[in-house]
Amino acid sequence: MKRIKLLLENTEYQKMLDTITEAEKDRIFCRHTLQHFFDTARILYIFCLEEKLDIDKELIYAIGLLHDIGRASQYTDGTEHHKASADAVRYFMPLCGFSENETERAAAAILSHRSGDNDDEIAKLLYKADKRSRLCFDCAARDKCNWSREKMNLEPFI
Ligand SMILES: [Fe+2]
Repeated sequence: MKRIKLLLENTEYQKMLDTITEAEKDRIFCRHTLQHFFDTARILYIFCLEEKLDIDKELIYAIGLLHDIGRASQYTDGTEHHKASADAVRYFMPLCGFSENETERAAAAILSHRSGDNDDEIAKLLYKADKRSRLCFDCAARDKCNWSREKMNLEPFI
């Protein structure tokens, strides 16, 4: 997992995580921490194994770890986070040694992760994994959340 290690050690990536943590410190809804990024990556990995998809593990983790990193831009300059995350993918993934194909596949999956509007298997599974990573069934702010009940994870199982 050398390429993922490079991403986690990247100081600009770490700075974006810090920006998100600071901006969300009083947030009552789900936060966008490294915990959420790893939860999403691991659930996405489980889904890929279940579906017997031959997708590189590092690509799966890169998608999980970058899918919401654009929240940093959203909080600082108002860019919608799915777009800012796709920009971040195009910046960080080549730096960490990912190919152009891998980078573009990740960017496309992340661009559609809020709508689910993408036919690529990994994009469909990212949409699902992102929701499944949240513990909506045990959330005190559920009644105030803007997610539809269909999006909410109301069962504690993958
Ligand atoms: Fe997410």
